[in-house]
Amino acid sequence: MNTTTTAPNAPLGRDMEEWDEFLQGRYKEGKSEEEFRVYDEHANPGVAEFYRLNHQHQSFDYVMAKEKEYFGLSKGMKTIWEAAEFLNTLVDDSDPDTDLTQIEHLLQTSEAMRRDGHPRWFVLTGFVHDLGKVLCLYGEPQWGVVGDTFPVGCAYSDQIVFPEYFKANPDYNHPVYSTKYGIYEPNCGLDKVHMSFGHDGYIYEVMKNYLPEEALYMLRYHSFYAAHKHGAYRHLMSDHDVKMFEWVNKFNPYDLYSKGHTKPNMQELKPYYDDLFAEFFPEKIAW
Ligand SMILES: [Fe+2]
Ligand SMILES: [Fe+2]
Repeated sequence: MNTTTTAPNAPLGRDMEEWDEFLQGRYKEGKSEEEFRVYDEHANPGVAEFYRLNHQHQSFDYVMAKEKEYFGLSKGMKTIWEAAEFLNTLVDDSDPDTDLTQIEHLLQTSEAMRRDGHPRWFVLTGFVHDLGKVLCLYGEPQWGVVGDTFPVGCAYSDQIVFPEYFKANPDYNHPVYSTKYGIYEPNCGLDKVHMSFGHDGYIYEVMKNYLPEEALYMLRYHSFYAAHKHGAYRHLMSDHDVKMFEWVNKFNPYDLYSKGHTKPNMQELKPYYDDLFAEFFPEKIAW
């Protein structure tokens, strides 16, 4: 893979890569809650700046506008491979020798699941989980594509990383959106809750007619760290959400820790994935 992006105006994947590494450091196995906080303070300035922009701009109105723009899936029909190849044009140029391409991250995630004997839909979920990052190639800023996700239209939890940056968000002092429940009913269920916009919500929309519910939870909430790592927002979750989050928790370690040094052999793996895609999807799906 070359070191520059081939898509016109495509931002480089640097913030994305930095965020992935930041997450791995944040949730290193055995790390205490206290160490987590310390890590925040000493986080590199690039990541802090990324979250400053994310928290400032992810307001209820912003999310509603982006949902309207993207959830109708009007960006064209593509096969899974076409979407993956398109995503692969987004390349991190910070360290091209050691970094994985986007497809390699997807394959390492899904192959680790396959090695552990998970069902085929689970492996498939591993492969597609970050395809929503094509939003970057549609011109969305990286703070609006990756990063932790959280509900909007109600108070921002202090369990979200860098909570102090929400003070610059227009909803921070809003009479309704700044309250605990905001526009929602207690335990209304996450399906009724608007999440900050990003690659998780978008890939859920793309996949929702094709994959089992467990898979859809994994896709939709895989960056909702405040909930699945810190137990925040239980007051909006239904009992069903709580049960389904067991799957989000099963998924998460593969996303965080499956990065290895051996690059997956695409040619060797392709036939397995051709069959897997054909089992769940028509040839092309709407993006
Ligand atoms: Fe992701
Ligand atoms: Fe990922």
